[in-house]
Amino acid sequence: RAKNFAYQPIAAINSDRMKSESKIRLFISKNSGVLSTLLKLAVVAVLMFSASSFFQADLASLTAFALALLQNRFVYGFLVFLSTLGALLVGLYVCVFVRFKPKELKFDALDEEKRAAAFPPGYPNSWWKLCDSEEVRPGEVKEINILGRRFAVFRTEDGVISALDAYCPHLAANLSQGKVVGNSLECPFHAWRFGPDGQCVDIPYAKNIPKNAATRSWDLKELWGMVMIWYHCDGIPPTWELEDLPELCGDNPYTFRFKFRAEVNMHVQDFAENGPDSAHFAPVHQEMTIPFARYLFKIRHVTSWRNGEFGSDTHHMGYFADDADLMFQWSESDIIPNAGARVAATFHGPGLVVFRFSTALGEILLVKSFTPIAPLKQRMDDRVFASPKTWNLLVKYIILEANTQFGQDIQLWSRKSYSHKPLIVKEDGNILGVRRWYKQFYTKNSRRGMDLSW
Ligand code: FES
Ligand SMILES: [Fe+2]
Repeated sequence: RAKNFAYQPIAAINSDRMKSESKIRLFISKNSGVLSTLLKLAVVAVLMFSASSFFQADLASLTAFALALLQNRFVYGFLVFLSTLGALLVGLYVCVFVRFKPKELKFDALDEEKRAAAFPPGYPNSWWKLCDSEEVRPGEVKEINILGRRFAVFRTEDGVISALDAYCPHLAANLSQGKVVGNSLECPFHAWRFGPDGQCVDIPYAKNIPKNAATRSWDLKELWGMVMIWYHCDGIPPTWELEDLPELCGDNPYTFRFKFRAEVNMHVQDFAENGPDSAHFAPVHQEMTIPFARYLFKIRHVTSWRNGEFGSDTHHMGYFADDADLMFQWSESDIIPNAGARVAATFHGPGLVVFRFSTALGEILLVKSFTPIAPLKQRMDDRVFASPKTWNLLVKYIILEANTQFGQDIQLWSRKSYSHKPLIVKEDGNILGVRRWYKQFYTKNSRRGMDLSW
């Protein structure tokens, strides 16, 4: 009975959050603005309408074109022709770029708790993405819940970013409901003020500030347009650092294109194990983004994985490469020239990966992060950059193709368990190598299973 009693509130919190947050949407998401969503819906409605009368419309336009030609009304005929072509192109664009929510999986809280217990600890020691830099502007405060904790993240008027434990040390109000005043964060309850280092700097009605009046301030680092937070289960300061990406600095830096966020019900380690798992590409990753393309084409992946060297300053890095080539379905060996993409992915710790796609038409950089919100719930963030002259449409297409593939993985990740002693054959790829590498991010006190300590 005691166990049941302890379990109830957790179940309530979990099932609620899982119901509302287990959605994966690409371009129409709950974060899309009302106007853009309405616009997209309108485009879809028009297309559905025109699709139903597509053949008639097409016939009608061709007939009109022919008639116009007969009557020498070239301009009119040309306009009709152009608009038909335009409608077809818009149709193709919508088919490819406007996606609808895939079949929604249901997550039962008790099941998830059991599933979590089978996995390694949910919060590896590492740098994790807290938020995008632009999410917290000077003078703003925001509540961010990751790593099983609640953070009040604020930026001073001077631009210094800070993440504090959200509960005020006075009477535990939530500091993220407060406001930024100058260079401190003011609690909404009794107006105590805290500096970026977590130290209380003002109690408006008291003569003395107790020395221990402070809330915990976390190690942050701002780079690549993101705010990273250091987490170690023993509170140890950072043991390795993140560095600038050459593509984002220098004379001709890549330009930022777009970002995307979703939540997925999986353990963070499964993402790293996926790359070297060479045997899953054929069964899982056949589907392509353009409808029906898979009847014509297939993608061949040749992959490899290498660990950063233990004991060196790249111990936290992992290197994954994938040569993806496009082939005709019926061909065994001939690749279609210039249609493939070389993908090199570099892991900076367990949850931050930089993908470099090089295509015949330009270079694309995808910064993908997985941040554990709970042991089996990750916030997946994409930040996409590309070499200055790369067409945005190409960038969108390549990233969409990659994310379609992640989508296929996610379906599996969110239902699988974890085997500590997997049955592996020689051809399986270096999955055990990834596991050896990943072990460095867990220490004795890393906790297994659900931890809702906030
Ligand atoms: S609870 Fe924050 S000042 Fe009282
Ligand atoms: Fe995969």
